[in-house]
Amino acid sequence: MAERRLLIAGNWKMNGLRSEAVVLASDLASRLQQSGPDGVDLLLCPPATLVWAVGQVVEGSGVLLGGQDCHAEAKGAHTGDIAAPMLAEAGCGFVIVGHSERRQNHRESDPVVAAKAAAANRAGLTAIICVGETEAERDRGEAKAVVARQLAGSIPPGSSAATTVIAYEPVWAIGTGRSASIGDVAEMHAHIRVELDRHLTGALDVRILYGGSVKPGNARELLALADVDGALVGGASLVADDFWAIALSCR
Ligand code: 13P
Repeated sequence: MAERRLLIAGNWKMNGLRSEAVVLASDLASRLQQSGPDGVDLLLCPPATLVWAVGQVVEGSGVLLGGQDCHAEAKGAHTGDIAAPMLAEAGCGFVIVGHSERRQNHRESDPVVAAKAAAANRAGLTAIICVGETEAERDRGEAKAVVARQLAGSIPPGSSAATTVIAYEPVWAIGTGRSASIGDVAEMHAHIRVELDRHLTGALDVRILYGGSVKPGNARELLALADVDGALVGGASLVADDFWAIALSCR
C-alpha cells in the first residue's frame, strides 16, 4: 500500500462570481507555490461557469480542479447538464458525484450516482463519490447500514483507488456548524474502508474524505484520524485564510 496523500477539497457549491473567484483561487495558488503543506493535494470545485477561469488562474500552481456534478452520458439532449468530457477538457481531474444536496434536491438515486461516477471515469476523471446518513437515520441506529448501502449502489463496477475518492458527509453536519464527533467519524471511516474492499480493488489506497462543518478549529483533530484522508469543505472553502488553515492542519 502506498502512503495515501491527503486531499483537501473545496466545494464552492453555488457560490462565487468571476472576480471574487479569481481572487480566491489566485490567493490559494500563490500560497501553495510559496509554502505548500507536504503530502497534501489541494482541490477546488467551483461552479461550472467558473471552471475555466479558475483553471487558468491555478494552472501550474499545483492546485487541482474539479467539477461539482456531471451527467451520466458524454453528450446529448440534456438541457442544463454538464458532461464529464467537458469538465476534463476544461482542466478538471475530479468531479463530485452524489452530493447529498443532489441526492435530495434532484432525487439522485444510487444507480444514478454510479452511472455518473462511471461517466467521470470514462472521461479520465476521478469521481468523488459522496455518502452519508440523515439525522433521522443516525437516530434510528442505521447510519452504518445506510452508508454501506450507498457505497454498494454508488460505486460503479471496475472502480479502483486510482479512479475513486469517497467523501463521508453526514447530512445533518453539512452547513450546520455541527461536525460529527471524532469517535463517530473514526468509526464510520473504518467501516467505509472495510466495505470498500467488497466493491473495488485497492481499498487501502482509496482516499476517504470527511465533510460536514469542517473548520480551522476542528480540522486538526479530524485529519489526524487513521482513515481520514482529507476533507470536503463547503463554507470554509470560500474564505482563503480558513481553507488554507485547514490544509495546514494536515498530519
Ligand atoms: P460545509 O463545510 O459548509 O458544512 O459543507 C460541507 C459540504 O457539503 C461539502 O461538500
